[in-house]
Amino acid sequence: MLKKLLQGAALMAAVTTSMLHAAPHELIIDTDPGADDLVALFLAMASPGELNIRAITTVAGNVRLEKTARNARLAREWAGREDIPVYAGAGRPLVRVPIYAAEVHGEEGITGVQVHEPKQGLAAGNAVQYLVDTLSAAKPHSITIAMLGPQTNLALALIQQPGIAQGIKEVVVMGGAHFNGGNITPVAEFNLYADPHAAEVVLASGVKLTYLPLDVTHKLLTSDTRLKQLSAVNNRASKQVVDILNAYIQHDMQLYGMPGGPVHDASVIAYLLKPEMFSGRQVHMSVDSREGPTFGQTVADWYGVLKQPANVMWVEEGDAQGLFDLLSERLARLP
Ligand code: BDR
Ligand code: CA
Repeated sequence: MLKKLLQGAALMAAVTTSMLHAAPHELIIDTDPGADDLVALFLAMASPGELNIRAITTVAGNVRLEKTARNARLAREWAGREDIPVYAGAGRPLVRVPIYAAEVHGEEGITGVQVHEPKQGLAAGNAVQYLVDTLSAAKPHSITIAMLGPQTNLALALIQQPGIAQGIKEVVVMGGAHFNGGNITPVAEFNLYADPHAAEVVLASGVKLTYLPLDVTHKLLTSDTRLKQLSAVNNRASKQVVDILNAYIQHDMQLYGMPGGPVHDASVIAYLLKPEMFSGRQVHMSVDSREGPTFGQTVADWYGVLKQPANVMWVEEGDAQGLFDLLSERLARLP
């Protein structure tokens, strides 16, 4: 009981402190949990002062929709944030044949922890309709979308009602790769490869876009020291994150021979919380959706050789230790 009261007080203190600063982002998190999505969700749900999470919308991606929707509800249950509605959305990409990433995230979509059917169900209605309704009723440029999976839900909403772009302040995408090369093909990153046509629709809508590609997420790696730092938080959420990461990072460490593993989607939330930890360039970007070896590739014109107007902020550098400090600090607020 005392523990719960103290946790409540810590969250309230966080709210009050940040209220003295800027107004919170009105945020929708679109996601396909996903081990790193789950870490991102924890980070976001532990930050109510800066992020007013209107809803979590789920999409097929790392695993099938039923599992991503269940995992989002599990994240919410574990974080004690059942006040946030979870809507299930698209069960398959716009055009291409569905692909999944169970070899990276496990058959259940989350590695290293036991999953169960959460107590609370999904919100009534479809995520795509939720996006249409919410964004069309929103004040101009007021809602931020954290895009942690394939962009299918938002693309479908934009196709159904292009005018909803007016409600969007910014879409912050985990996706793409330029300097780094790909993680699902030599040139394509998973989220873009899983639905490049959807990414093209979002790009063509003209909404403000920020991309956090593999170029930056592969610089924000775990290490033994950083995992120990998370363990030292010593609550259920930090233990879950460490267990998840210990299992999840193996695949990438082996594949790339890197000393640690990336926590891709958590970077999007960190970017919203502390943009000063990141840097990049406004560039012109296009997505290749033609069949062939470059399917799903993002072409970022880093040097401006095409002389085309910039259409995305391409983030290239980030503060790795800053990310893990932030994650440790915020996990301490969770059960
Ligand atoms: C992205 O693909 C997914 O497997 C991860 O959850 C992340 O969103 C990394 O390429
Ligand atoms: Ca994801």
